[in-house]
Amino acid sequence: MRRGGTYIDATVGLGGHSYEIARRLGAPGHLIGLDKDPAALEIARKRLVGRSSSVVGEPPDWPTVTLLHRSFAEVAKGQRPATIDGLLADIGVSSLQLDNAARGFSFQAEGPLDMRMDPHSERTAEQVVNHLDERQLADVIYEFGEERRSRRIARAICRSRPIRSTAHLADVISAAARPMNQAERRIHPATRTFQALRIFVNRELDDLKALLAAAPQMLKPGGRIIVISFHSLEDRIVKDAFREGSSQGMYYRILTKKPVTASQEESDRNPRARSAKLRAAEKV
Ligand SMILES: C[S@@+](CC[C@H](N)C(=O)[O-])C[C@H]1O[C@@H](n2cnc3c(N)ncnc32)[C@H](O)[C@@H]1O
Repeated sequence: MRRGGTYIDATVGLGGHSYEIARRLGAPGHLIGLDKDPAALEIARKRLVGRSSSVVGEPPDWPTVTLLHRSFAEVAKGQRPATIDGLLADIGVSSLQLDNAARGFSFQAEGPLDMRMDPHSERTAEQVVNHLDERQLADVIYEFGEERRSRRIARAICRSRPIRSTAHLADVISAAARPMNQAERRIHPATRTFQALRIFVNRELDDLKALLAAAPQMLKPGGRIIVISFHSLEDRIVKDAFREGSSQGMYYRILTKKPVTASQEESDRNPRARSAKLRAAEKV
């Protein structure tokens, strides 16, 4: 990291990474943070904005922080080309979203079928579950959940409509897709379907592709992009974008031949880190 540089945290969340970036940037720096979720941004704002003036007796060595309620698909909006030293995206859901039953992300708690990261966006999981036809629903579950039992699950969902809550949906899926073997028994039968619905509701893969397409023009030579992803669909998109940038366009040098994963100790401390994969590339 370069003290005094301009860095983008494309997924501010509760501001954990942003705080560490800001600390290293110091007063001459600029941190630009984005998130789709206004509730997360509100928490991050308290942690990140206005610190230099509030810490009495300490030198005001805190960067300018700009927080934007925006999808990272629009990361380039208002930015001049080749002005960014680093871009971080830690994609997926935050603990704030997952642990709040009212947001509807979790099959382990009773809540409305919402799943929107941005509560102002139009499409909810309830609309998808109750209004797609059986074939469309099966395709979504297969494509974004990599769920082999997608047709059976879609049929069961359509027969049980209307479905209004996460718990009802999880019960319908569990009854339709009983685990066939030991490997399937390790994860809850609703895991893949919930993942698929979340990705579809939030257009997650399209947003990721738009971010990766915009990044090369935004980075300065020597600037770095780091993406942390949580499932194979996302990781494949990141890997392909970096590979393409390092071969055809020759604008990236890949810094991680293999994705960086959490150590056993980190996974023990934070079980959600278990499936995280980090990839990094440098603009040449
Ligand atoms: C895993 S959390 C990030 C946690 C953060 N790094 C921290 O240290 O607290 C992912 C965040 O990305 C946000 N997010 C997901 N997709 C997004 C998108 N397309 N545009 C902007 N924010 C997005 C979510 O709302 C969530 O707050």
